[in-house]
Amino acid sequence: ARPGDLAGRHVVVSAGGTREPLDPVRYLGNRSSGRQGYALARTAAARGARVTLVAAHTELPDPAGVDVVHIGTAGQLREAVLKAAADADAVVMAAAVADFRPAVYATGKIKKKDGEEPEPITLVRNPDILAEISADRAHSGQLVVGFAAETDEVLANGRAKLARKGCDLLVVNEVGEHKTFGAAENEAVILAADGTETPVPFGPKEVLADKVWDLVSARFGEARS
Ligand code: C5P
Repeated sequence: ARPGDLAGRHVVVSAGGTREPLDPVRYLGNRSSGRQGYALARTAAARGARVTLVAAHTELPDPAGVDVVHIGTAGQLREAVLKAAADADAVVMAAAVADFRPAVYATGKIKKKDGEEPEPITLVRNPDILAEISADRAHSGQLVVGFAAETDEVLANGRAKLARKGCDLLVVNEVGEHKTFGAAENEAVILAADGTETPVPFGPKEVLADKVWDLVSARFGEARS
């Protein structure tokens, strides 16, 4: 970490897990704790950046010195990130965004009926925000970073995902029932569109966050010279 190297930069970080409502009391969610995204927001602020944190569900308190926008669904996350990204130097999508949402939102609580099987839940696709921002940058120097949680063929899937999403950096980590989600530590490989691979050994999520900012900061330097 280089103190102050992000001074004068505006960075947007999304974090946490989106929740897609089925009815007023139920939702489809995921196990994201928000810890990696919050670590990214804190470390960027510590290095001098102005930080907008778009926070989906998490139990963490708002970090100090960061603008926090709380949202619930993937659709709301998309709106908040696109708005904040308009003047951002970097956008880091650490949020676990629901790929699908219920096709229908029931305005009243869904009831069980005696002797009847439940209605199936039909899902529809959510927009891919990372792919959209990568394809449609607010300005040519804007850097876009994604995250990918994979359970197998981690590097091969990561490379394919980096190309498919069109982002500059993709942080790939292996997940399983007892790995990554909710933990304070993480182990990852940061894949870059220029072909470089930066392994980050198992350690605190702050260390991985600082490594991401090191790579972002180095690329800001290139864009300027
Ligand atoms: O395709 P997958 O969900 O594995 O991609 C993960 C990356 O894409 C994360 O950076 C996540 O924030 C982002 N994403 C997104 N919009 C979606 C789904 C994922 O921006 N609908």
